[in-house]
Amino acid sequence: MANPSLLILPGDGIGPEVMAEVERVIAWFGDKRDLSFDVETDLVGGAAYDAHGTPLHDDTMAKAHAADAVLLGAVGGPAYDDLDFSVKPERGLLRLRKEMDLFSNLRPAQCFDALADFSSLKRDIVSGLDIMIVRELTSGSYFGEPRGIFEEDGQRVGINTQRYTEAEIDRVARSAFELAMRRNKRVCSMEKANVMESGILWREVVTKVHAEYPEVGLSHMYADNGAMQLVRAPKQFDVILTDNLFGDILSDCAAMLTGSLGMLPSASLGAIGENGRPKALYEPVHGSAPDITGQSKANPIACILSFAMALRYSFDQGAEAARLEAAVEKVLADGARTGDLMGPDGGTPISTIQMGDVILAALD
Ligand code: NAI
Ligand code: MG
Repeated sequence: MANPSLLILPGDGIGPEVMAEVERVIAWFGDKRDLSFDVETDLVGGAAYDAHGTPLHDDTMAKAHAADAVLLGAVGGPAYDDLDFSVKPERGLLRLRKEMDLFSNLRPAQCFDALADFSSLKRDIVSGLDIMIVRELTSGSYFGEPRGIFEEDGQRVGINTQRYTEAEIDRVARSAFELAMRRNKRVCSMEKANVMESGILWREVVTKVHAEYPEVGLSHMYADNGAMQLVRAPKQFDVILTDNLFGDILSDCAAMLTGSLGMLPSASLGAIGENGRPKALYEPVHGSAPDITGQSKANPIACILSFAMALRYSFDQGAEAARLEAAVEKVLADGARTGDLMGPDGGTPISTIQMGDVILAALD
């Protein structure tokens, strides 16, 4: 059988630095676990603009469609700040998300015990935390029409529209229930059905889809209460399902309960393709970090954990994903820290490459 294929897009800034460590991890799985990937590497963002005058070449887009999964580093940076909006690095990433129709954004908030004291919350509230936010990514307030700034009665009005079709809610709800079946079989859906019609429809459709997943427990919560509950007692949640706008805010909030931006992976999934796998893009939550680029200071863990998500959600290798996550857990427990993980009392940070070294050693 042919190896599964991976398209790697390191991008800009620290993107290539953290991706280099992921490539070593990928090679390890090929050597030691007989789990090989056909890896192809290409350009995205500013790097693609420099080479081709566009942040995502059509050939790269075609490769992304054809690949079993795409792994992306980060895009953007000060060198590209003055570019025209149409060719900004971010447009490359947006084009990937849009053309692959990646409607389901998975953002885990997981607390590694060794970092529990980094949280802004008390240790016992976050230790052992392991929740997953499923955010609808391709519709809602960020896309709904009408939108714009208009003139009305002699003053300007800014308009955005929260709009969801039944089909859009149905597919993202399905992805949350499928995920819950592989986890702890609990979903909490968050909207504002008390004040928004789109929320009423959301609750109705989610309830209807739930009938097909009788093993999963479903609860509903107003999103504002959800925000409060996330900081009060986050461990009450397992899978949280929510829309694009609320999900943007709630996922940042939940993720930060657990520590550094350098630790946070994500997955964006679309419809199941001909290969039987969802269209998928995996990327760290952080950006290109121009302030530390080229200094081997970046934490590669967010990108490495994004590959772990790829193992689990694209390649059905949950046990291998757990192996990789356990290696990360072990090096943190042993005290390995990049600069972003330094506590108030300091210590000596290790480099990006050294973090890669200790993770590979832990895998061995
Ligand atoms: P950023 O995430 O790049 O950096 C924020 C802060 O976190 C910086 O101090 C940075 O050094 C630190 N940081 C981020 N990742 C880290 C890591 N792996 N290890 C250690 N420290 C890390 O966000 P910022 O500064 O707002 O944006 C910088 C550039 O990145 C901009 O051009 C922005 O547009 C772009 N960006 C790209 C994203 C993407 O590719 N998905 C997401 C966010 C921003
Ligand atoms: Mg955000």
